[in-house]
Amino acid sequence: MDLQLKGRTALVTGASMGIGRAIARALAAEGVKLSVLARRGNLLEELSREITAAGAPAPELIVADVLPEGAAERIAAESRKRLGTVEILVNSAGGSQPALPVDAPESKWSEAMTLNFIRVRQLTHALLPGMIEQRWGRVINISGKSEPEGLIAATPAKAAARWRPPVTWIARPSPCCWWWRGWWCSTATCHAKRKCGQSFFQ
Ligand SMILES: NC(=O)c1ccc[n+]([C@@H]2O[C@H](COP(=O)([O-])OP(=O)(O)OC[C@H]3O[C@@H](n4cnc5c(N)ncnc54)[C@H](OP(=O)(O)O)[C@@H]3O)[C@@H](O)[C@H]2O)c1
Repeated sequence: MDLQLKGRTALVTGASMGIGRAIARALAAEGVKLSVLARRGNLLEELSREITAAGAPAPELIVADVLPEGAAERIAAESRKRLGTVEILVNSAGGSQPALPVDAPESKWSEAMTLNFIRVRQLTHALLPGMIEQRWGRVINISGKSEPEGLIAATPAKAAARWRPPVTWIARPSPCCWWWRGWWCSTATCHAKRKCGQSFFQ
């Protein structure tokens, strides 16, 4: 598949496993220069070996936890330093814990909100000005379903992450398939398939 991304740059968070890892591999295969982030450096190194074995350049590895205060700004700065500019941001770092009891400590709720929404927003806000300046950029948030089966703390945070910026933020919307090719895609798999018939996941 040619997604016409050759030579672009991307930061993929949550790239050590799961959806983020699959997206990183797919982007590398498309010729995108990558910076990949997660806490487990050994898994990122393994990903790097897989990518180079497939013939693509080694990605930049950023071993970091997104939860500490100021992490989003540090990660954005490190990615810009390594890649020059970040044209595509994939926010896949996240996760949900089993349903919380009603007396769950506040810390559980605030951790879920920070991981699944606040850092997603901050990282996006840190990188969006560069995309607007270049008049090209893509932000893909991997969110989740809207109908929880229990009191899952990630659900309201993911719903918040599905918020979209006003149209005035858009420097130059693509003529076709705006939603997918535009600035913000809330659920990559769903919208990519519905609107373009294309997906990162083959
Ligand atoms: N799979 C599903 O059914 C499903 C459903 C709804 C929503 N989602 C969402 O889709 C995204 C990807 O899901 P997945 O199934 O691929 O999850 P996964 O396999 O559990 O992978 C989560 C990724 O996020 C990273 N991560 C988690 N906490 C982090 C932190 N504090 N700092 C930095 N990185 C962190 C993990 O890396 P390290 O542990 O190495 O840091 C890992 O690479 C998540 O946002 C998830 O909430 C998935």
